[in-house]
Amino acid sequence: MVSAVELAEPARQEPGSLLLHFAAAGAYGPDGKELLVLERGEGPYVFDVHGRRYVDGLSSLFCCQLGYGYGKEMAAVASAQLERLCFNTNWGTAHPPALELAERLTGLAPEGIAKAFFTNGGSESVEAAWKIVRQYHVANGEPGRTKAIARKIAYHGVTLGALSFTGIPRIKDQFGPPAVPTRHVANTNAYRSELQGEELTRSLLDELELAIQEEGPETVAMVIAEPIQNAGGCFVPPPGYWSGLREICDRHGILLVADEVISGCGRLGAWFGVERYGGRPDLITLAKGITSAYAPMGAVLVADRVAELLHRANAPLRHGITFGGHPVSASIALRNVEIFERDGVLENVRRLEPYLRRRLEEEVLPLPIVGDVRGDGFFYAAELVSDAGAGRFEPADAAHLVSSVLPPKLLEVGLIARADDRGDPVLQIAPPLIADEAVLDEIVVKMRDALLLASDEIAAR
Ligand SMILES: Cc1ncc(COP(=O)(O)O)c(C=O)c1O
Repeated sequence: MVSAVELAEPARQEPGSLLLHFAAAGAYGPDGKELLVLERGEGPYVFDVHGRRYVDGLSSLFCCQLGYGYGKEMAAVASAQLERLCFNTNWGTAHPPALELAERLTGLAPEGIAKAFFTNGGSESVEAAWKIVRQYHVANGEPGRTKAIARKIAYHGVTLGALSFTGIPRIKDQFGPPAVPTRHVANTNAYRSELQGEELTRSLLDELELAIQEEGPETVAMVIAEPIQNAGGCFVPPPGYWSGLREICDRHGILLVADEVISGCGRLGAWFGVERYGGRPDLITLAKGITSAYAPMGAVLVADRVAELLHRANAPLRHGITFGGHPVSASIALRNVEIFERDGVLENVRRLEPYLRRRLEEEVLPLPIVGDVRGDGFFYAAELVSDAGAGRFEPADAAHLVSSVLPPKLLEVGLIARADDRGDPVLQIAPPLIADEAVLDEIVVKMRDALLLASDEIAAR
């Protein structure tokens, strides 16, 4: 057998035959960036092929809620399932893990949510949600509801349907007109707004109402939003925003979708982040943390009133995905729920959330390069500014900062975090939900150190 080191060794400098996602392969190599090749995890830590240790302050792109220490337990679950039944679809048949998981998740979900449709990831969940929304309106005698409303800079996935809702021009423009006509309205960026609190809420909801009126209320099928918008840097909703979305959607017969691919599964200290903000969505999309990434999986949770109408109209769901609800993934997702309960994972987030916020305010917020620190739960962003105030970096400087300056500094201090410039530049963290005070401290201090190193480099240019 080829060892992990032998396999990874040629990729140490360059990706070789591997086409990296959202990366320019040519940027890596002897004269370019170092390619991080991770081979092992332990608790909240990961180790590269050279044995260097990093604290995973991002839960591997918001997925590894439990960190890396549950491999044996999850492997036993997977192995037992593989021996019992390696696979069966959810296409007009079922298997016990999918049935049981659907019960568990809908039992945990906000009131009114009664059904679960399984997928393999976030983009698939978002597209499945859209198709369920469309089928609902058709069954309801309103086939003219063909449009969606999403928010600017939001990321809802990359497959062509989901990409329609994504509000980041540079990752969609070259792929032609959107599959779903989508209008993008303002997100909940309070830092860059003159308005705050309820005034901000009013203005955002007024803008949404106007967009619906301009599109024609009878043509709008869905409003989709994340409880906290990730892209742009953890935009927390202002007070009353989610109940306002509900009221507007109800008034116009529009379905409300909470995209909880990141904010769900404990990231905000609850199974569903939207509950924290008083949201009552009709559909909820999940992925990433649903298995804590011990296997790939996603889900769409659907309100009873939506599923019931399809049932009454005798409208079979015209959507299916071969591997959606795979028994191994479903078994692991079930064990993930059990571990959350057994090991008090949500309680840990709720208990330590104030500590994380305080430490960020003490160590990161005072840095001249940081204008704002925002987030909730174990999900935070520091917005980076050019002038110790709220000054914006020029777009080219922001791109340089997040793609060339910060990544090597993060590796140098031994922290996995996300430098991102889909909106204004931010450095984001999303610690594993099992992190204790010491791990959170380590993440915050390393975040500070990386930002200090980056500031020095910028100042020296
Ligand atoms: C809010 C949200 N929706 C959808 C997606 C797409 O998920 P995936 O990458 O699993 O397709 C993502 C991915 O980061 C996301 O953050």
